[in-house]
Amino acid sequence: MKSNQSNKSKQRARLLSGAFFLSAVLIFAALVACGEGSDTAIASEGQARNMEARGKYLVVIGGCNDCHTIGYPESGGKTPESEWLTGAPVGFRGPWGTTYPANLRLTVAGIDEENWVTMTRSREALPPMPWPSLNQMDEQDLRAIYRYIKSLGPKGVKAPLAVGPDQEPQTPYILFEPQHMERLQIGNN
Ligand code: HEC
Repeated sequence: MKSNQSNKSKQRARLLSGAFFLSAVLIFAALVACGEGSDTAIASEGQARNMEARGKYLVVIGGCNDCHTIGYPESGGKTPESEWLTGAPVGFRGPWGTTYPANLRLTVAGIDEENWVTMTRSREALPPMPWPSLNQMDEQDLRAIYRYIKSLGPKGVKAPLAVGPDQEPQTPYILFEPQHMERLQIGNN
């Protein structure tokens, strides 16, 4: 009888310590989960910043500002970043007509990231936009460019609509057509 009682109290003690152990494990797990949560938030914030920085880098080395930011090449790249990619009202005139570098700040304001990726990978529109280069760009790079431009916020006005080859543009334009090709022949002789 006595030994039976002590067995019972041993059992109770074991149960109690088991419950204590279990709750300690649960509290620890909850603490780890909390810690992980904030770590994940910090990591994704850092990742988002990295994506934007990568997008900026790609815009700079990809030469997007050369056409999409008025005055950028002439200033030797000194145009303030706040003005970048707001498009140009000066057309490029060639055999395809006259095209205007779009205001990309407004473009990204108007479409979501998925549509941006689809558009930049599939569009085969007009020169001198380097569509063949953009079409080949890695998807993550295209996303990075989108996020960078988006981070600049919308600014400026839409670029004029393209003008057909037989129409006279009403804006200033850059003639983007080889001149005096006959000189090539003379040079070769
Ligand atoms: C040599 C000049 C030039 C360069 C360099 C250039 N673009 Fe363009 N881009 C244009 C012109 C002109 C258009 C309008 C023609 C068209 O829509 O096909 C255009 C159109 C676009 C459009 C379509 C926007 C819309 O709303 O329809 C996107 C997107 C774009 N460019 C992105 C870029 C990116 C990103 C870069 C850099 C990697 C770049 N461009 C470099 C001239 C250029």
